[in-house]
Amino acid sequence: MSKKHNFSAGPCILPQEVFQKSAEAILDFNGSGLSLLEISHRSKDFVAVMDEARAIVKRLMKLGDDYEVLYLGGGASLQFAMVPFNLMKTGNGKAAYTDTGTWAAGAIKEGKKLGTVDVVGSSKEDNYSFIPKKYTVGSDYDYFHCTSNNTIYGTQMREFPKVNTLLVCDMSSDIFSRVIDFSQFDLIYAGAQKNMGPAGATLVVVKKEILGKTGRDIPSMLDYSLHIAKESMYNTPPVFPVYASLLTLQHLDKNGGIAAAEVQNEAKAKLLYDEIDRNALFETFCNGEDRSLMNATFKLLDDTRKEEFDNAWKAAGISGLNGHRSVGGYRASMYNALPIESVQVLVDVMKNLN
Ligand SMILES: Cc1ncc(COP(=O)(O)O)c(C=O)c1O
Repeated sequence: MSKKHNFSAGPCILPQEVFQKSAEAILDFNGSGLSLLEISHRSKDFVAVMDEARAIVKRLMKLGDDYEVLYLGGGASLQFAMVPFNLMKTGNGKAAYTDTGTWAAGAIKEGKKLGTVDVVGSSKEDNYSFIPKKYTVGSDYDYFHCTSNNTIYGTQMREFPKVNTLLVCDMSSDIFSRVIDFSQFDLIYAGAQKNMGPAGATLVVVKKEILGKTGRDIPSMLDYSLHIAKESMYNTPPVFPVYASLLTLQHLDKNGGIAAAEVQNEAKAKLLYDEIDRNALFETFCNGEDRSLMNATFKLLDDTRKEEFDNAWKAAGISGLNGHRSVGGYRASMYNALPIESVQVLVDVMKNLN
């Protein structure tokens, strides 16, 4: 069977080399005569995997020893709760959030369970079609939370605000896709299942000095400090996703790192957006300057052409192009591992529809 052009929003395409090496490790890990799936997470071989996975994240992000890297379970959704548990003061805790999409709203919902949440910027009333920018965040907040890329609606923050409190960011759907100064953040989290591996592992990067200040007795599994003290092995970590994530990041590193990925991602997004803008049959859902380089959301202006278009992209070997059920239309997710050739195939299908 020929390989599909996979535009899925996540879990999504990963480098072929990662699939290959992961498959080998499942059969025989490091020539040990054992599968990666049957060895102890405390074995020397797996501890080396965890150590290297944590180290490569720090290296790629150019962060120093004031930061710790954790690989946890529970998805990015668990971080919606872990962040307030670890950063919101007990008693009169208060945090600022931007509401830029479904996932941001999910984080807000959890924050509200532990303290006051002020939504300082929102695009909800406009169907999340842009990134709010005109807000200030004062030092009376315990932290400010934002979502760098809105996977469902297809908007992305180009810049991050200067705030007078801790800066926390959900980078699940654009981590490692572009060069940014990661040291401006106090805490970054991301579900692995887009640019950094399969589902099941969640990355947390946290500045050590911000922890332990809430006055709260945090449940063990939710306590970043405990996970740090146990080197991300407080409980059995998601062994396979961590290994596949390490392979994904090694692949990124070998192929020019984040800077090279960014060049590719900009070229892919330009190719597709130029066609959407040129082609009278299509329109994007989102405001120009905030369009995501990772998830392009668009629709057909003439619904009577839907069957014809759907048949054409499926016949071209494209998969995962349907929009999220809450938005409709189409969503082309162009994560790091998607080759530009796949975008060209989609653009050709759109051109031929004229
Ligand atoms: C930006 C963002 N945040 C959070 C999540 C939720 O991640 P998880 O399913 O790992 O909990 C997603 C999932 O796609 C996402 O795209």
